[in-house]
Amino acid sequence: MDRSTPSWFITLLMLSLCAIPASSQDDTAYAKSLLKFKESLTNVTMLDNWREPVQKLCSWNTPVWNGCLCVNDSFWGLKLEGMGLGGKLDVDSLSELPLRSLSVMNNNFSGPFPSNINKLGKLRGLFLANNNFSGEIPDDAFSGMRAMTKVVLGDNSFMGKIPMSLLGLPRLVDLQLQDNQFNGRIPDFWQADLKVNFSNNKLEGAIPNTLRDQNASSFSGNLNLCGEPLDPCKRKNSTKKIAIIIAAVVVLALAAFIVLFVFYRRRQKPLKHEKSVDHLQTEEPNKGTVTYKNSEHGKLYFVRNDTQKFELEELLRASAEVLGSGSFGSSYKAVLFTGQTYVVRRFRNMSNVGKEEFYEHMRRLGRLTHRNLLPLIAFYYRKEEKLLITDFVENGSLASLLHGKRTPNQPLLDWPMRLRIIKGVARGLAYLYKELPMLTLPHGHLKSSNILVDATYEPLLADYALAPVINKDHAKEFMVAYKSPESTQNDMVTRKTDVWSLGILILELLTGRFPANYLKQGRGPSADLASWVNSVVREEWTGEVFDKDVSLARNGEGQMLRLLKIGMCCCEWNVEKRWGFREAVEKIEELKERDSDDDYSSYASEGDLYSSRAMTDDDFSFSKA
Ligand SMILES: *[C@@H]1O[C@H](CO)[C@@H](O)[C@H](O)[C@H]1NC(C)=O
Ligand SMILES: *[C@@H]1O[C@H](CO)[C@@H](O)[C@H](O)[C@H]1NC(C)=O
Ligand SMILES: *[C@@H]1O[C@H](CO)[C@@H](O)[C@H](O)[C@H]1NC(C)=O
Ligand SMILES: *[C@@H]1O[C@H](CO)[C@@H](O)[C@H](O)[C@H]1NC(C)=O
Ligand SMILES: *[C@@H]1O[C@H](CO)[C@@H](O)[C@H](O)[C@H]1NC(C)=O
Ligand SMILES: *[C@@H]1O[C@H](CO)[C@@H](O)[C@H](O)[C@H]1NC(C)=O
Repeated sequence: MDRSTPSWFITLLMLSLCAIPASSQDDTAYAKSLLKFKESLTNVTMLDNWREPVQKLCSWNTPVWNGCLCVNDSFWGLKLEGMGLGGKLDVDSLSELPLRSLSVMNNNFSGPFPSNINKLGKLRGLFLANNNFSGEIPDDAFSGMRAMTKVVLGDNSFMGKIPMSLLGLPRLVDLQLQDNQFNGRIPDFWQADLKVNFSNNKLEGAIPNTLRDQNASSFSGNLNLCGEPLDPCKRKNSTKKIAIIIAAVVVLALAAFIVLFVFYRRRQKPLKHEKSVDHLQTEEPNKGTVTYKNSEHGKLYFVRNDTQKFELEELLRASAEVLGSGSFGSSYKAVLFTGQTYVVRRFRNMSNVGKEEFYEHMRRLGRLTHRNLLPLIAFYYRKEEKLLITDFVENGSLASLLHGKRTPNQPLLDWPMRLRIIKGVARGLAYLYKELPMLTLPHGHLKSSNILVDATYEPLLADYALAPVINKDHAKEFMVAYKSPESTQNDMVTRKTDVWSLGILILELLTGRFPANYLKQGRGPSADLASWVNSVVREEWTGEVFDKDVSLARNGEGQMLRLLKIGMCCCEWNVEKRWGFREAVEKIEELKERDSDDDYSSYASEGDLYSSRAMTDDDFSFSKA
């Protein structure tokens, strides 16, 4: 034994010598936090080698303490599985660790979902399955956990709604909530590569479209779920019933109509559907009332074949909700008897062209089909006003996403999301340019409140290509294209004017700042816009220029700077120097979610955007001249 001691000793010495350069960090503080964490656990027999604080938690990439995980010779997380543990998960102690993964599956934990779990900001995986956790999970439990990819909570006694903050986890790929008592509806998950398991809960309602490709076993054993991949929601079976109901209603309505007609003809009381028009009229009492009398034979003109047709009366009879009154007029959300929902927009300043030309232009718009365009479905023509009918889009406008109060079910507008939105906008715009070569302003009114966002957070352009039919005075006062420098200064618009609006939109999207002055109504002095752009890109140029939700994406900063530069090239004051739409769209398409190493080095060598002198007037010609 004595003789072997020296070589054993030398080997150990060499090991520790080699180990030093590989990882020089000191884990003592982490070890102390782990010991503190251990104090609130019960039945810790399996953690008996967690005693004195050690200097290294990982040695040769092997954990020194039971249940620790090491990656690249550094502490990575905890895997405390099947150890008979109970007690409390002390998140505060854990938050002092760079925890990427936390698993306590197959133990004997009970009580509520650990509070403040979102203090573990780097966490990628949370595994609590097979314990006896219970109670509701707060809606915002996961808010801000942007690195999270796996949430595994199966086989517990959780109840209540599925927390909406799960929708805010952009990288989520695995969500297992099976064998609990979650109730209510399944929220609209939108994450692209997500796999879920919701089986054996008390969920009900329609399965969101975005989850239709999941395995049916992920939804089995619930109260009342329907829709793909399970059985369709009632509707299909009862088409016959609905037909019968419709027939009955029609007969009854006809009878009622005749009775009304006979008895009240002379009193000239408004007919039933005219009365219901009133709720469409109350909004603007000063601007005169409009009645849709039968005698006018007002008919909706459908511009597409792929939608179900309905009558103006049906629309007017539908329950309507005022959505808002924009610069062109009010808009209403109308839910038809059949359950279809439409938006009716009322335009009063749309008599720039005659009837034939108007119909022609609307038919042209009806032929447009693109994933990023809100389709026009039908219109109603009267000399004094027009109604345009489009689909209803669930998630509101980009403006409300950017500037409104964030609702719990709204995912964070992080960089990948904003990139997706701007790419969609660019594609929609490119399509308009291609399909409407005869128009100077293929869009004309591009701004964040005219970009709607659908259930999958894909942007849809609205209010496009209306410049030809809007009265010129009104257009000049309200339309975004007419706020461009070329319009306010030289009273002209060009095929590059929409590019300018795109540029403003990009800056708004990146900075999260509302271009208030520029959207001011009327033909205000354009200097306001110049100062907005300047303040965005120059005065605030301290790295704080990006909206805080975007700037969290550290590994995408080079790409964000690229987009900023694209935005500025689109906002170029001088029309000659301004990019055309093709160049703008191509550059946007080249953007990626993450920087590659190449991007960093090429950007560093370009050097312009990183240096504080970058934003001079010379570079971008934003002088107010
Ligand atoms: C471990 O190190 C290698 C090489 O440095 C790196 O490529 C890899 O991303 C690291 N793994 C993690 C999980 O950080
Ligand atoms: C304590 O843990 C052991 C395994 O480590 C387990 O067999 C035992 O049931 C646990 N006891 C309690 C009371 O949880
Ligand atoms: C689980 O914990 C409870 C107390 O919370 C204890 O009574 C029970 O024996 C434990 N069961 C196991 C299997 O460890
Ligand atoms: C789990 O917790 C619930 C509620 O706290 C309790 O009623 C139930 O008995 C527990 N089940 C087990 C197996 O410990
Ligand atoms: C669904 O999941 C079950 C169990 O995980 C598996 O056996 C089956 O092949 C899956 N079906 C499909 C269509 O993926
Ligand atoms: C979902 O969980 C249930 C119950 O644990 C299981 O039977 C089913 O195979 C799971 N489905 C998938 C797709 O993993």
